[in-house]
Formats: sequence, structure tokens, C-alpha cells
Amino acid sequence: MDGFTAFSKTRPETSISLPACAIKRLAPAPAVCCNLPQMKKPTRVNHPPEIALPPGNRALVSPIYQSVKFEFESVEETERSLRGERPGFFYSRASNPTVRQLELLVAEMQGREDAIAVGSGVAAMAGCLFAQLKQGDHVLCFVETYGPTRYLIKRLLGRFGVSHTMISIEDDAGIEQVLASTPTRLVIFESPTNPVTKIADIARITALAKQHGALTVIDNTFAGLHNHGQYPVDLFVHSLTKYASGHGDVMGGAVIGNADLIARMRTDYTIVGATLDPHAAFLILRGLKTYFLRYREQCANAARIAQFLATHPAVTRVHFPGLASHPGHELARRQMQEFGGIVSFDIRGGFDAGRRFADALEYFALAASLGSTESLAMPPQMLRSRDLTPAQVLMSAITNGTVRLSIGIEDCDDLIADLAQALERSAPDPA
Ligand SMILES: Cc1ncc(COP(=O)(O)O)c(C=O)c1O
Repeated sequence: MDGFTAFSKTRPETSISLPACAIKRLAPAPAVCCNLPQMKKPTRVNHPPEIALPPGNRALVSPIYQSVKFEFESVEETERSLRGERPGFFYSRASNPTVRQLELLVAEMQGREDAIAVGSGVAAMAGCLFAQLKQGDHVLCFVETYGPTRYLIKRLLGRFGVSHTMISIEDDAGIEQVLASTPTRLVIFESPTNPVTKIADIARITALAKQHGALTVIDNTFAGLHNHGQYPVDLFVHSLTKYASGHGDVMGGAVIGNADLIARMRTDYTIVGATLDPHAAFLILRGLKTYFLRYREQCANAARIAQFLATHPAVTRVHFPGLASHPGHELARRQMQEFGGIVSFDIRGGFDAGRRFADALEYFALAASLGSTESLAMPPQMLRSRDLTPAQVLMSAITNGTVRLSIGIEDCDDLIADLAQALERSAPDPA
């Protein structure tokens, strides 16, 4: 017999056949309990045979703990767990083994002790701001900050008496002046920024913030989990929807920091309830297996594409930190291991040329998000920041002709050929 028949002696009609190599031991929940008659089928389907791997035997790919609830053997043990006196899991909104595995992995990748994983990047950001801020606090943020983060600070936290100052990430003197003149609880920034890849001086910002008693939070989504860990940033926020999972099929987010800080935030996150589903955590863990391969390839393709665009007559400016002409090039060289997979550029002919270019693309998809294996394009029509004043838009360096490309892992010659033909078709019809 090449299979192992579970419970065949007690209930042949409910038995299941498993390959002998897959099961060595059947754990609790037998069909017959000592003080009760044999289970009937409606009971049995709710208490199926449990498969536990014997000591010394492990799955190479961790299982998905697709369970909301976890049981201890007694009320006493449940209470001990709830009091934090013993390890274990109780309810998946608070913690789940698959999600926990992801949290520990991303924390290690970012060079910190702990993390909280949630259902999206924006949920990670919202949880972080709500956990760290209270009425009367002041936040320093930037016009280059990701739009929904600006919304959280300006609209949502504004309603609860949190004030903010918003300047440009390039305004070195302004950063110093705001921190020196206004007691500030938190500085939040990105590097490279979205979409024009400005580079923040992380050493300078963290030093100034520390000097003035402010917490630093970086949205490190563009730079990736392996960058910037060497700087004393207090909290790293990531959209795991992007490079971490990498395939555009799952959403997730994380806040990462040292154990104390993360522990103090965990209950707030749990109560807000933006829980990451264990299956989503599994998909992100799977994506992370190829994270470095993908990121490296994306960066290499991005560098070639930036060079191509820099010499193209239909392009007036390229934003890519890997180009020596980029104002943040030297800083990016110091701060990052590579220059990222985002290339933005200004197209000659502005808004309308951007539309024609985008409509002509064949391989690049016109889609939101970034960091996927396939290349994506956002034309000027999709990059407008409606909440910024004209002066702030000018500061942001996003123009009427700015196009953002998220570079994938396709063959780079194909990508360049697609960009070339679309740029050619971006010029107005001579008729
Ligand atoms: C820099 C940055 N941070 C955060 C997010 C939000 O992530 P999510 O879509 O997972 O909520 C995005 C999404 O585009 C982003 O670009």
C-alpha cells in the first residue's frame, strides 16, 4: 500500500488517504474522543484530522496558517497567553504565524528588529501616523510626499488637531529652519521621491530631527527593503504591494523599526484592524524569494532606459538618480546600493504629447502601482496632484509633460523599442 489511511479502523467511510511520505503522525482531534460517542459526519467535517509534522521533518515552503483562531489546551493557558506569559497565537487580527514570518523577514531585510505587517502600504502609513501623533503635534512633510500620505496628514490628522508644515525635500535651509522654530513630533519623507526620484539627504535629516527631538519616518518603498538601513531612521514604512511581492497580485504594507517602538505601536495597529490576510502574507513571502533578482534586473533595465531617454530628441528631461546629470546623483551613490527601477521624464509637447505617447505604448501597461515584473507607464494625466497649489506643483518638479515609468524585468531591447516607437508617435500629426 503506498498510502496511509487515517482513522480507517474507527470510521472507514470518513477516512482520507494520504501519501505515506506526507504523514508520520496524526495529532489530536481523533474521530472518537474518550468521553463521547464516535463523531457524526457534520461534527467531523468541522473537526477534521489534524496533520502535524513530526520532529525533524519540515516543509521547505512554509504552510499558510489560514486560520482566524488558535486554541490552547485550557483556559489557564489561554489566559497566560493573553497576559503575554507564554508564546502562542490567539486571533489573527492580532497575530498569525504566516504574517509573523513575513514581519520577521522584512524587519531583518531592513536591518531592524521588528515589524508590523498590514493590508496595504497606505494602512501601514496611516497606522504609523495614528500611533505616533496626538492632538497638538506638528509634522514636517514635503510636497514630494506620496499623495495619500499628504491626505492623511492634511485632511485626516488635521481634523484631530495635528498641524503640519509642507516644504520641498530639496529645501535644506527650510528643513533646518522649521525644526529649529517649531516643536516637531515627526518628520516624514521619501527617497527617491514619487514620481521624479528626488534624493533626500537622509543623514542630514535624521541628524537634524534627532537634535530637535523629532521622530523620523521614511516611506522606503521606492528604495526597497535592502536600502537605507544604515541610517538612524526611526521607522521605515513600505508598500509590500510593490517590489516586495513583485508580481502585482497582492497588496500589503509594513512598518519596521526597533523592537520597543514597534511593540508600543502594535495594539494601535491591531485595533485599527487593517490586518494582512495570511494568504496575502504567503504570496509576499513567495515574492520575496526573488526580490533581489528582480530588483537588480529592474535597476539594470532602468539604467539602460534612462540612458536611452537622455539622448532622445522627444525628451526634454530625464529623472533617474543613476544619471550623472541628476541633482541627487552623488547622494544616491552614497546612500543606495543601486539607483532604483523608476525612470521619469518630461516629454516634448507636454500633456498632449504625453497622452499620444502613452496610447502608443505596446509593452508598457498604462497602470497605477510600480515594482512589478512587467513595465508600467503613468502619463501626465495620471500624475496630477490636485491638492497642491501651483507654487507647490512648481516646487515638486512635476510638469505637464512628466511621465513615470516603472521598469520591469522584460528584455530591455524590447522595452527600448517600445519606448522609441511611442516617442516617435508622440509628436503632433503634421496635418
Ligand atoms: C511611495 C509609495 N508609498 C506608499 C504607497 C501605497 O501603497 P499601497 O498601494 O500598498 O497602499 C505607494 C503606492 O503607489 C507608493 O508609491
